[in-house]
Amino acid sequence: MKVLNLPGPIAQSLIERDRKVVSPSYPRGYPFVMDHGRGAEVWDVDGNRFLDFAAGIAVTSTGHSHPKVVAAIQEQAEKFIHISSDFYHQKWVEVAEYLNRIAPFSEDAISFLTNSGTESVEAAIKLARYHTGRPQFIGFTGGFHGRTMGALSFTASKPYYRQGFFPSMNGVTHVPYPDPYRPVLLAHPGEDMGDAVIRYIQEELFEKMVPPQEVAAFLVEPIQGEGGYIVPPASFFPQLRALCDRYGILLIADEVQAGVGRTGRWWSIENFGVEPDIISVAKGIASGVPMGAMVARQSVVTWPKGSHGNTYGGNPLACAASLVTLDLIEHEYMANARIVGAYILDRLRGMQAAHPSIGDVRGIGLMIGVEFVQDPITRKPARALRDKIEELAFHRGLLTLGCGKSTIRISPTLTLSQAEAEEGLEIFEEAISLAESEIFSDVTATEVSIAKG
Ligand SMILES: Cc1ncc(COP(=O)(O)O)c(C=O)c1O
Repeated sequence: MKVLNLPGPIAQSLIERDRKVVSPSYPRGYPFVMDHGRGAEVWDVDGNRFLDFAAGIAVTSTGHSHPKVVAAIQEQAEKFIHISSDFYHQKWVEVAEYLNRIAPFSEDAISFLTNSGTESVEAAIKLARYHTGRPQFIGFTGGFHGRTMGALSFTASKPYYRQGFFPSMNGVTHVPYPDPYRPVLLAHPGEDMGDAVIRYIQEELFEKMVPPQEVAAFLVEPIQGEGGYIVPPASFFPQLRALCDRYGILLIADEVQAGVGRTGRWWSIENFGVEPDIISVAKGIASGVPMGAMVARQSVVTWPKGSHGNTYGGNPLACAASLVTLDLIEHEYMANARIVGAYILDRLRGMQAAHPSIGDVRGIGLMIGVEFVQDPITRKPARALRDKIEELAFHRGLLTLGCGKSTIRISPTLTLSQAEAEEGLEIFEEAISLAESEIFSDVTATEVSIAKG
């Protein structure tokens, strides 16, 4: 397999310029400097080609620069680029009508358009507080909801997101996410982790710390993204919905990463047969043009004129891109996500049998996580191995992204063909084999030298 010499000279020089003027806070993993892209392929500034299993953190849903999306943006740019949310325009109404049609509610939906995932989450928590008049929220450990102060108060996937930024928003209590591979609670006989978390919420939280009558909403990712691509047990969401109904608590599903067709359904919560009250959306909704949405049941949207707004909400370029994106996803790519996702999951499970470092393979549609462990029995996370695999795959022409402690996420464009999937998986497996021999031989060498004193 061809090994690329990276970063190339042009990439290297741009990275050096970037280092002098761009915030060092961005968590860049490896030196990919984009030049252009088409579908699931991208090229760097030195002319190297890569398959993209990352899609700009699960964003470029219809592939890079889909010709129909590009044409829609160009056409709109010729007419007008901005008018502000103080006025009206047709494409904005059409996006909200589209979202109303596909929203996961049995009643009509109202949308508030935003510019990012974190802003969609802010809108959701503000609306929940406004509508219920209640101050408290419940979030989940491992959750990622963004980096603005409200959303950050729920984000709990890595300590460095919060370190140095306290105090956070008052009124957020975290409970364990039902992670079947790494359960943090002891399940009683007959229970799975979904049951155990619900019992914890009732018995430990509601009966000891947070009166449910004070809780405005649960904010939860139906499938955890940044926290490790974790799929909860089927038992969890129906019971969480029942708790919400019992106490008048709203259920906010953060669909920023898992939504908009990625799991083969419009919304990832639909995989669990449950209706939320509010969803936060972004990433895949406009193929990479910055746009998000907070979509809520009509009966929840009780806030009055002036209570919430933004300058760029409903931006015409974003709306134009979004309308074409939603149509392409509905008619082509949602089905593709199901089919190619099932193919990838199957292939990865085959790989797992040959590689004991693969502790777990999980996911739905094209939202797939591969968790690496030092030992399949202890399940100790193999972070260094994961990082090495990512690096080796990059040098062989495959972009991937880590998540959780030792997981690689496979979140490609929803356009990915089976042939492209296969090409990427072959690189991925070679990277795993190479990393295993490199890291595990290092570990053995270290152990030998420790044993020798
Ligand atoms: C589930 C989830 N919510 C919210 C966000 C925040 O989105 P943004 O980075 O657009 O603010 C992300 C980003 O990764 C996410 O995955």
